[in-house]
Amino acid sequence: MSEPAVSEAPLLEVRDLKMYFDVSKPLVTRLVNRMPRYVLKAVDGLSFAIRRGETFSLVGESGCGKSTVARTVAGLNSATGGEILIEGKNLAGLKRKSSLSDIARRMQMVFQSPYASLDPRWRVRDVIAEPIRAYGLAASKAEERAQVAELLIQVGLSPRDGEKFPHEFSGGQRQRISIARALSSKPEFLICDEPTSALDVSVQAQILNLMTKLQDELGLTYLFISHDLAVIDHVSDWIGVMYLGRICEITPKSELFRNPRHPYTRMLLETIPDLKGGRERKPPEGEVPNPISPPPGCAFHPRCAFASERCRRERPELATFGPARVACHAVEEGRI
Ligand SMILES: Nc1ncnc2c1ncn2[C@@H]1O[C@H](COP(=O)(O)OP(=O)(O)O)[C@@H](O)[C@H]1O
Ligand code: SF4
Ligand SMILES: [Mg+2]
Repeated sequence: MSEPAVSEAPLLEVRDLKMYFDVSKPLVTRLVNRMPRYVLKAVDGLSFAIRRGETFSLVGESGCGKSTVARTVAGLNSATGGEILIEGKNLAGLKRKSSLSDIARRMQMVFQSPYASLDPRWRVRDVIAEPIRAYGLAASKAEERAQVAELLIQVGLSPRDGEKFPHEFSGGQRQRISIARALSSKPEFLICDEPTSALDVSVQAQILNLMTKLQDELGLTYLFISHDLAVIDHVSDWIGVMYLGRICEITPKSELFRNPRHPYTRMLLETIPDLKGGRERKPPEGEVPNPISPPPGCAFHPRCAFASERCRRERPELATFGPARVACHAVEEGRI
């Protein structure tokens, strides 16, 4: 993997992104029972950048805020704070409908469940053609048909499959259809939220290989989300490890597996089996705290073997260590 080219603006940059949800009980219930308001900080100050043609992955246990990042970057949530920039332009500053529509075309999402994201009443060719129609990308019906046929071939299906309905396909094939649909608006950037988590392991590898092939062929940029380090290992250039709405380590992929720095990253790595030594898969220790009332200081401190008094008081910020950025007092103090 190459080092960042200094002059090139990243395709996507996220600065101090915050997404809070009000999860309070309804007003009357709160008044009667004298209950406070509760705010859940699903994403609480996230910053990262992705260069064109690269894959940046977010990894972390369930509930740490990965999907919320994906949905907020895709514009499905309205962020509580922070900035999202495409090629240096702040999305919040784009007012013209044509600019917003252009961004929507260039940025597509692939979801975990190909069952939920495909309308069962539509033929596959219409599922795939819908974005082509919405963005006016084909001059005629014949051109649309040709584009759909080409997309089906690109994802390893046959043009004849366009005549069928989604339920006639296996899970892996349905995810191929979802990918063809995501590609039909000719995007540059795909947000992939656990795209293989619902699939059998053997099928997962096929879909990941397809996504890597498409990235090479089409020069795509990916924000890739998974709770599974084996999947992350397959696709990533850079990795952000998330814990309770924040990034605790950002690192090039090779560095994450060779030289993990943050205690949480180390814990996650211990959960994957050692292929050579046959080490057993170890479940992560301890439980993720309730995100409505996260622990003070470093949110990881109740589970951390290196926690000190400072960790219980002061929240660590990301700082540079070699090629990585890590938010940990023990790393900063040279204790680990
Ligand atoms: N629309 C919402 N309203 C309230 N809470 C939400 C909403 N979406 C997500 N959350 C909460 O935000 C946290 C992060 O969720 P999510 O982003 O789905 O995590 P992940 O994808 O890493 O499993 C969870 O505690 C979840 O319950
Ligand atoms: S800051 Fe402290 S508690 Fe948090 S990961 Fe580092 S050593 Fe552990
Ligand atoms: Mg999720």
